[in-house]
Amino acid sequence: MEPVTFVLFGATGDLAKRKIYPALYNLYIEQKLPPYFHVIGLGRREWTDDIFKSNVEQSIADFSRRKVKDPVLLKSFLNMFQYQTLDIGRQEDYERLLERIEKRENGLSLTPNRMFYLSVGPEFFAPIAANIKGSGLGSAAGWKRLLIEKPFGHDLASARELNQQLSEAFEEHEIFRIDHYLGKPTVQKLVDLHQQHPELQAMWSEREIANVQITANEIVGVEDRAGYYDHSGAVRDMFQNHMLQLLMMVAILPKKVTPEEVPLMKRALMKSLVPLDLQQVGERVIRGQYTAGSIQGKPVQGYTSEPNIAAESLNDTFIAAKLLMEDDYWSGVPFYIRTGKRLKEKSTRIVVEFKPHAADAGSGKPAPRLLVIEMSPQEGISLQFSPDQARHHEQLSPVQLDVHASGQELPEAYENLLHDALLGKPTFFAHWEEVELAWQWVEPVLQAFERNDVPLRTYAAGSYGPAESDALVANDGYHWWFDAKETAADESRVLHPSR
Ligand SMILES: NC(=O)c1ccc[n+]([C@@H]2O[C@H](COP(=O)([O-])OP(=O)(O)OC[C@H]3O[C@@H](n4cnc5c(N)ncnc54)[C@H](OP(=O)(O)O)[C@@H]3O)[C@@H](O)[C@H]2O)c1
Repeated sequence: MEPVTFVLFGATGDLAKRKIYPALYNLYIEQKLPPYFHVIGLGRREWTDDIFKSNVEQSIADFSRRKVKDPVLLKSFLNMFQYQTLDIGRQEDYERLLERIEKRENGLSLTPNRMFYLSVGPEFFAPIAANIKGSGLGSAAGWKRLLIEKPFGHDLASARELNQQLSEAFEEHEIFRIDHYLGKPTVQKLVDLHQQHPELQAMWSEREIANVQITANEIVGVEDRAGYYDHSGAVRDMFQNHMLQLLMMVAILPKKVTPEEVPLMKRALMKSLVPLDLQQVGERVIRGQYTAGSIQGKPVQGYTSEPNIAAESLNDTFIAAKLLMEDDYWSGVPFYIRTGKRLKEKSTRIVVEFKPHAADAGSGKPAPRLLVIEMSPQEGISLQFSPDQARHHEQLSPVQLDVHASGQELPEAYENLLHDALLGKPTFFAHWEEVELAWQWVEPVLQAFERNDVPLRTYAAGSYGPAESDALVANDGYHWWFDAKETAADESRVLHPSR
């Protein structure tokens, strides 16, 4: 691996502490960092190198999946970290930074490869990019890369404006847009799942998919993000990015692509999504907001009673939608997506429901077969069959697909993503065109919500969302899989099957 200077804006912040330092530590332990790797942390705080190092050490103690066993290794890891005070708006701070970086690069005769990670609010992305260019930090003979995380704009127009600003300092192949869902090991496995499982290839080739369901349910409410969330809602916070990324990744499954072909295929799939006009939004999109209820036995207040949320807020804390594709494989197969806050249980999963075989009917009604891709709270992929039972009362018989070796501790998403960015591998990052196409698809939804054309459906905290979300799927003759209804039949549900 080539030498890299890792320039971290927002080094004193929460994301760096929770995710970035633990990820770097685990990569270091696994010898996945370049031999000459140097971190310069930046923030306005007047920290010394030693204060910075002790904060990094604390973050590893608090958040790393792997605890420190060897203090000597930890020390050599921390020796890679230096801190510099920098105000994002002050050009002279960038010039000082350049001097410091060049001094080290020249002293060690290193190729000046620089990775800029912007772990700061999105309003700073454009000014930082401009200052990197203006100061000469981005003009060295080595490569440069920019890492940013959503939100990439607030709507189509602002996303385009941001992209235009970034593209004045970085080319598209130099921009690595993080969507941490794409860093999850299970999501990454989807690319070559079919190659490893002939039984799946046979199922795909039958072209017998009834529907695809993508769920990301959260228990938590708006927490301390009221200011951001009340202007964003589930549609911007989750749907436009994470949910549509999951849709692209699952739609790749039958397509037989190499990792290099993934970004192109994702764009093709996004282009094949059937757009909605304003009237169709009301028919295919459910907008919800939680009211008071109870979660895991504890009472929970409604959204508009949360601190810093206006009593008359019409913000969406839940969204469900039915999407269709015009694609040689997926035409006619509905994709149902739902995501929201203050729901009954935390779960992120994709279910591909195959049509039942009449031959499987036995004495009862033929029952469907499922491919279940779980990302949270556990990760795993299984095929589940329900050969002899009636549809809603099935005893599922699961077959765990061997995608993660048994007992294997999985890397965190940020480890995978940082490693790929260091290698310059774009497969699991969001290309600008995907982001733009996603905003394009969502734009009429934003407009319809803004104009209040779509009714705001309420749901009690601790439920699975508004009844209309169930009806959206039921109208086509299906139901959301694995919702824990209060019936004896559901005691049979199997989510984390043992082999
Ligand atoms: N926290 C998470 O788990 C998480 C998860 C996903 C995405 N994100 C995204 O990641 C970004 C950072 O989030 P965060 O939670 O880490 O925020 P945060 O805790 O508020 O940290 C913000 C960082 O920005 C720095 N900063 C702010 N203004 C600055 C200025 N004028 N000049 C130089 N540095 C400045 C702060 O440093 P000083 O105060 O020292 O200046 C601090 O290090 C946000 O875009 C957020 O949406 C966060």
